[in-house]
Parts: sequence; C-alpha cells; structure tokens
Amino acid sequence: KLERTLGFIKPDTLDKMGDVIDAIYQRGLLISRMRLCHLGQNDAFKFYEEHSGKSFMKDLINYVTSGPVLAFELVGESAIARWRELIGPTDPSKARSEAATSLRARFGRDVTHNSVHGSDSPASTAREVEAFFPSTGRQSLPNCV
Ligand code: CMP
Repeated sequence: KLERTLGFIKPDTLDKMGDVIDAIYQRGLLISRMRLCHLGQNDAFKFYEEHSGKSFMKDLINYVTSGPVLAFELVGESAIARWRELIGPTDPSKARSEAATSLRARFGRDVTHNSVHGSDSPASTAREVEAFFPSTGRQSLPNCV
C-alpha cells in the first residue's frame, strides 16, 4: 500500500545528511517534502507528548532542541515499516548487534542519542506530518525555514 511517513535527522547527525538521503533513495523511498526546523522546548514537548513522565524525557527534549533537525515526509510502498526497518531499533547498540547497515547502527551513539526518528503508525504519521508541515490555515512551527 502506498503510504507516507515522517522522519527527521536529529541535531548531532545533520552532518550525515548526505548519507541519510542516499540510504533513503537506495531503499526506494521518495522525499516529498523537507524542512529544517530548530524546535523549541514547547514544540519538542508537544511532539513527544506520549513520553511525558518517562525517565528519559528531559534528555530527549534537550537532545532534539540542541540544534536544528531536518524533517522529511517520505512516500512509498509500506513506507512506515520500510523507513523503520532502515533506521533500525531505538537503541543503537541493539541496532549494531542486528545489522551494521541500519542508520542507528551507523550513526547512533546511545538510546537517547539515536540519530534519526521515524513515525511508528499511520496515526502518528498523520500527527507528525501535521506538526512539521501544517495544512494551510494552521500555524507553522515558529523556527522552521
Ligand atoms: P524516537 O524514535 O525519536 O522517539 C522517542 C525517543 O525517545 C527515541 O527516539 C529515543 O531518542 C528516546 N528514547 C526512547 N526510549 C528510550 C530509553 N529507554 N532511554 C532513553 N531514551 C529513549
């Protein structure tokens, strides 16, 4: 089924932008929209609302607001599952034990600093695409170019 999904490159991995984009194309996914955003604390809290209260929330917010992220909408057959397969498990050390080729295996440092994001379901895709690429009439994130 033709799907879309939302991904972003986290701040410490922006210097690997070329490698990430190359991996996306190698996998046969297309980038339909792309945007550079520097999230503020409130934007990040809202985006990661489902994790509020978790022990890693503060580190996560600090990490994703530490610099700009490169957000993109990907389109392709089963894009959600295929993008998640390409990024690998949340924890980069687990990713490295499974396959050295996933993006988190290649570029992740630890379970918080895991280099890239991917939506995990059609519902989160819809919410996350709307967060970075608001439909007309809705206000955009303040710090996007
Ligand atoms: P992401 O897939 O972008 O969405 C939630 C993020 O929270 C995840 O990547 C990690 O950066 C972070 N995260 C998830 N689980 C943990 C954990 N157990 N410990 C620390 N950070 C985590």
